[in-house]
Amino acid sequence: MISKLIEIRDQARAKILEAKTIQELYEAKSLYLGKKSPLQEILGKMREFNADTKKEVGQKINEFKDMIEKEVAKRQEVLALAEVNKKLESEAIDVTLPAKNIKVGNLHILTKTIEELEEIFLGMGYNIAEGPEVEEDLYNFEMLNLPKGHPARDMQDSFYINPSLLLRTHTSPVQARTMLESKGKPIKIVCPGKVYRRDDDDATHSHQFMQLEGLVVGENISMADLKGTLSAVFEEMFGDGRKVRFRPSYFPFTEPSVEVDVSCFKCGGVGCNLCKGNGWIEVLGAGMVHPNVLDMAGYDSKKYQGFAFGIGIERITMLKHGIDDIRNFYINDPRFLRQF
Ligand code: DAH
Repeated sequence: MISKLIEIRDQARAKILEAKTIQELYEAKSLYLGKKSPLQEILGKMREFNADTKKEVGQKINEFKDMIEKEVAKRQEVLALAEVNKKLESEAIDVTLPAKNIKVGNLHILTKTIEELEEIFLGMGYNIAEGPEVEEDLYNFEMLNLPKGHPARDMQDSFYINPSLLLRTHTSPVQARTMLESKGKPIKIVCPGKVYRRDDDDATHSHQFMQLEGLVVGENISMADLKGTLSAVFEEMFGDGRKVRFRPSYFPFTEPSVEVDVSCFKCGGVGCNLCKGNGWIEVLGAGMVHPNVLDMAGYDSKKYQGFAFGIGIERITMLKHGIDDIRNFYINDPRFLRQF
């Protein structure tokens, strides 16, 4: 009988050692320690044995059950560790691998142009002003020497909200607002912002675009100051040696009015496809603040003069980066936006 028990114990041991997974181990355990195990079966037949055998067999069975129990526990530890190791191995991270490029956003190129210009003007002692995009006809036109019915209002087809309210067609109304607020004190401001016109969108027109307005008011201000200022700005923006030239033009709020060209920053002025062969690129409108505008805003035009300018942000960004369609700025195609 004892040898039978030993045989059972050895089978149990073998099965336990054979188990490759916890599941297989539990199966072996229930086979040899469960209610229907061979040892249990022998226990059930104890009545048939004499007292001595009963005692011996009983002891052995208990001893072997203990043994098997311990073997199971040992094997379980081994298998559990193996399982953890396997998992660790399969989930291992090679920290020396190059990292994936995380795509972070970047500033819009128009924002960058504005920030670049703001930096330049701040360095020259200008303040940054702001005004509303929904603007009163009063500031957008009337106080800029464009009374109702003035033919030059046609230069800027407008989105009217009601007869006295519209989406500003330029940043120039901020001139009038700033002059009223400054109550006769000298002014040096730039104002960047969105403007709106009833244009059909195409490669060079957009119903919404951006400008940066500039206004300087003080005593003894002349066209020379305007020219010097713009020369310095465009040298900073487009590189050393850039020259500016003035061509006569017309804006109702300036007298005289000029259109300003900068010497081509691609070819240096000898002529290329960017400047269409003439060496100069038109960049903005400007002029000396019209005496009517000064007077309307409470500045004595006999004592004070001013210059003003309006830069098209899209236009100079397109020139600087060789962009040929203004709509690119607003389509929000990441392939375009990511380039800058
Ligand atoms: N407001 C003008 C426009 O949108 C641009 C402009 C021209 C602004 C001359 C000025 C200026 O301040 O002096 O067409």
